Amino acid sequence: MTGTRERYERYVAERHRPAHGRRTAGRWAAFLLPHLRPEMRLLDLGCGPGSITVGLGTRAIGADLHPVRIDGVPVVGADARALPFPAGVFDAIFANALLQHVADALAVLREARRVARPGAVIGVGDVDWDGHLLHPRHPLLERGRQIREAVRERADVRVGRRLRGLLAAAGFEGVEVGVTGEAAGTSRAVAAMADFEREWFEAPEVIAHVTVLGISGAEEMAAIAAAWRRWSADPAACAATLWFTALAWAPPDRPPHEGGHPPLPQRLSATGGIDDVECPLDQGP
Ligand SMILES: C[S@@+](CC[C@H](N)C(=O)[O-])C[C@H]1O[C@@H](n2cnc3c(N)ncnc32)[C@H](O)[C@@H]1O
Repeated sequence: MTGTRERYERYVAERHRPAHGRRTAGRWAAFLLPHLRPEMRLLDLGCGPGSITVGLGTRAIGADLHPVRIDGVPVVGADARALPFPAGVFDAIFANALLQHVADALAVLREARRVARPGAVIGVGDVDWDGHLLHPRHPLLERGRQIREAVRERADVRVGRRLRGLLAAAGFEGVEVGVTGEAAGTSRAVAAMADFEREWFEAPEVIAHVTVLGISGAEEMAAIAAAWRRWSADPAACAATLWFTALAWAPPDRPPHEGGHPPLPQRLSATGGIDDVECPLDQGP
């Protein structure tokens, strides 16, 4: 990893953490909540700061490539494509805003299928950048979108529309896809959104990274930041974002278990930087 890439990734993680930390289960997991019960073992893949995880009302465990401590929820440092869990141990799986960050979304869902017990429910939420509507449009803002997409490299920012096919390909069934949406349609929301976008194009960490990647340069980035300022000042400015949700189930390929859950290791040590957190999955809710 180059120095510019590290600095860029640290900048992005710090910039997004406060917004992710304000997410709630009521807003982001509403489609999954009716299918959850308190006794369920739930795995939250790519749990981030865990503000959704804590509201799922289950025996949740978080897994994240860059784990942070979540009060009341064990967190394991793990790549979602290679989880440190035996097969068939989770009653429910949740993954919000994870697949847009991984190069191989199907590998993540296949791994989710492996650790899902027969009949387990999975809920996935993710974005589709073609569902980002901006008015008025401007070539510089369109170019900014291209740059932001190019920086994601092999991750698919249109994964939302693929969720139905991906879940089926991973071995889940009964897939139900839905969408939710958000609008920036007040002066305050338009300004907040434009500021958030503009800051990315002005950040030295981003400018250095896109320059090293050969995607853009300081002059173009400054022009795009200025276009966001103009957009924000336009009294007609308005934006909307579509968010895909998908529910599916692991096939009930054997009768529902009667004698409790398949055995899990007594304690799973977390890795990836949280050495003192353990995951007491089998020690009751
Ligand atoms: C956009 S955040 C979403 C966090 C949380 N689910 C939410 O909705 O607020 C994406 C999270 O996925 C994690 N992540 C990215 N790639 C991953 C991978 N291959 N395995 C596990 N976690 C990953 C990141 O560290 C980050 O915490």
